[in-house]
Amino acid sequence: MYTEKVLEYFHKPKNLGKIKNADGVGKVGNLACGDMMYLYIKVKKDGKKEIISDIKFQTFGCVAAIATSSAITEMVKGKELKEALEVSKSDVIDSLEGLPPIKIHCSVLATEALAEAIYDYLLNNKRPIPKDLEKKHNHIVKSNEMLAERYEEWIENQEE
Ligand code: FES
Repeated sequence: MYTEKVLEYFHKPKNLGKIKNADGVGKVGNLACGDMMYLYIKVKKDGKKEIISDIKFQTFGCVAAIATSSAITEMVKGKELKEALEVSKSDVIDSLEGLPPIKIHCSVLATEALAEAIYDYLLNNKRPIPKDLEKKHNHIVKSNEMLAERYEEWIENQEE
């Protein structure tokens, strides 16, 4: 069973949509189910600080994926990039007062899409990329490639 918070975010998602001219975009797929998420950020500089001034998402996935995506956008809006990267899967799940165990994997989309959007922003602005973020990015790229291969195989099987 989903908590009331999950259902609330699912029925009325916050920050749903796309940002034109986003400063960073994250695109991730979930290997377990094939669902996808896009996350867009706008970054504002305040002295040395870089703050997420706007954030939106598009999730093609289940109730838990939509609720966690929506929750993470609210949690990191107005935060510095560094702080936003510290938000974990468990933080997001806790903010929703839990997820059914079988749906825990769905929350990965939200944290990975955020990491990818920040990675994209840093790369576009020729900024140093923290080691942990680079590692996460390489892992996500590999997963996305595997997902693309699976889709291709599936399409080929449909054509036979
Ligand atoms: Fe795919 Fe939940 S079943 S993200």
